[in-house]
Amino acid sequence: DPKALAHRALAGPPFTKEEMLALLRDPEDPEVLHILCRAAHLVRLKVFGNVLVLRGIIEFSNICRNDCLYCGLRRSNRNLVRYRMDEEEIFAAVERAIRMGFRRIVLQSGEDGAWHPDRLVRLVREIVTRYGVVLTLSVGELPFEAYRRLMDAGAYRYLMRHETSDPELYARLHPGTSFGVRREHLYTLKSLGYATGPGMMVGLPGQTLESLVDDVIFMRELRAEMAGVGPFIPHPETPLRDAAPGSPILTLKMVALTRLNLPETHLPATTALRVAFRDNPHLPLLCGPNVVMPDVTPPRWKVHYDLYPGKTKADLVDDGENVYAYWERQAAEVGLVVD
Ligand code: 5AD
Repeated sequence: DPKALAHRALAGPPFTKEEMLALLRDPEDPEVLHILCRAAHLVRLKVFGNVLVLRGIIEFSNICRNDCLYCGLRRSNRNLVRYRMDEEEIFAAVERAIRMGFRRIVLQSGEDGAWHPDRLVRLVREIVTRYGVVLTLSVGELPFEAYRRLMDAGAYRYLMRHETSDPELYARLHPGTSFGVRREHLYTLKSLGYATGPGMMVGLPGQTLESLVDDVIFMRELRAEMAGVGPFIPHPETPLRDAAPGSPILTLKMVALTRLNLPETHLPATTALRVAFRDNPHLPLLCGPNVVMPDVTPPRWKVHYDLYPGKTKADLVDDGENVYAYWERQAAEVGLVVD
């Protein structure tokens, strides 16, 4: 019985693969969701207290060499205004984020060849020495030696979702590459000492419940320090435009299961999850996440970082408003305090 099983989340030994599958047998069951969320939230309170960690994300280029079937930034999407911020613009964005209150910054981009590793290394060193912020990178796959040089320059967290642990599905969604390659990059980042952040989309076309459980097991085996879990949201300018969106309920269950399997992992309420729950914005914060990554990209560019519909308006703040202060208020509404 899935409900009885869910109630064991905090008491018994960790769930086995078979037990996790049993918990998901009815993906939309609201009672199982409720029980799992409560357990995941308790684990999160035990490990991180009532602290909500904020990281400001700067999306500094939406130019990408890849052609991932789900992503609005895919190179085949000709109906997207492409932009690339330069160093001065990025420094200004960091300074603006610091003025709001952020002390942790994520630099994210498409796999933009013009931001070659040498230039990235200089950027990272400059930001870390000038501003003393904690820097996370999310710029895709690079030559392995570049990861080492970026770490020497002062980056020590790296987000790179594994997207799906189903090798066949991975190959279908990512022309020209494979899950094996992605896994190698993740284990390399890990072995270099990066706090490493894999993660997956929930509800990809053809994705099985078993592969979702495998996603959690993959992140546990990697001993991921961070994990990003969000629903798949079809983008009209991609081949998956007519696919069904990922279930918000199932996504939240996967977030809760991720927290229960990886108690000490930094788990964001991802932007896509917040988009899926925009009518119930407190819920994602109460199912295990301890992090939010608000967008601090300059307003004129962030509207073009269009990974999926709804994303560029996910943070309900006006241009120029302090998104850090906004999240202080949001956190307070659910009894959390931002750090
Ligand atoms: N729906 C949900 N998430 C998406 N991403 C990209 N496209 C979509 C989409 N259509 C996610 C991927 C990627 C991250 C930056 O955004 O998981 O790693």
